[in-house]
Amino acid sequence: MKTDFKHIFIEGDAHLPVLLLLHGTGGDEHDLVDLGQSLSPGSAILSVRGKVLENGMPRFFKRHAEGVFDLEDLAFRTNELADFISEAREAYSLSDKPIIALGYSNGANIAASLLLSRPETLDGAVLLRAMLPFEPASLPDLSQKSILLQTGLMDQIIPLAKAEALSDILKKAKATVQMNIKTAAHNLTQADFSDIKIWLQNIQEKV
Ligand code: MLT
Repeated sequence: MKTDFKHIFIEGDAHLPVLLLLHGTGGDEHDLVDLGQSLSPGSAILSVRGKVLENGMPRFFKRHAEGVFDLEDLAFRTNELADFISEAREAYSLSDKPIIALGYSNGANIAASLLLSRPETLDGAVLLRAMLPFEPASLPDLSQKSILLQTGLMDQIIPLAKAEALSDILKKAKATVQMNIKTAAHNLTQADFSDIKIWLQNIQEKV
């Protein structure tokens, strides 16, 4: 593949959507594999490691401070990741299969950026503790996309208003959005897992 990211690919059942796993800051391509497999048993898995290092911690794009993103790098990295996913679709014979992103924190933010600027990349997304990564100049058509947002009411990294701003923009772009605001902080809880599992089961019946 021309655009090259460290990644794991695990083959799955041809009738199930592929899960694209995107880790949080300081994680890697191994982090979400067990979670993905337990949330959507049998789904093929493409799990990618972000290329940016912040004090040795992998991320998907640079930031100036917590929640203050380097928008030039975000645009560049979003395109690079979208190109990689398109090549991976070919390389792993996934062209006709829906791809659902499952991203946590920084991984959820780049998934949101993919939806806003390269929407053809994903068929849907589970965005865990995500915020609006940038203000898009124009709205994409997301009318065919289903998106689940799991937001923590006490999240000190992602303020509720910034998660709601993301939900509002996705809805304006005509996506089908479900936002669950949990009594939780930045870390995921058992209640998040139950919500995601149910949402993924419903999606599998639709796609
Ligand atoms: C980000 O940088 O994407 C967010 O602040 C979440 C995180 O800390 O990774």
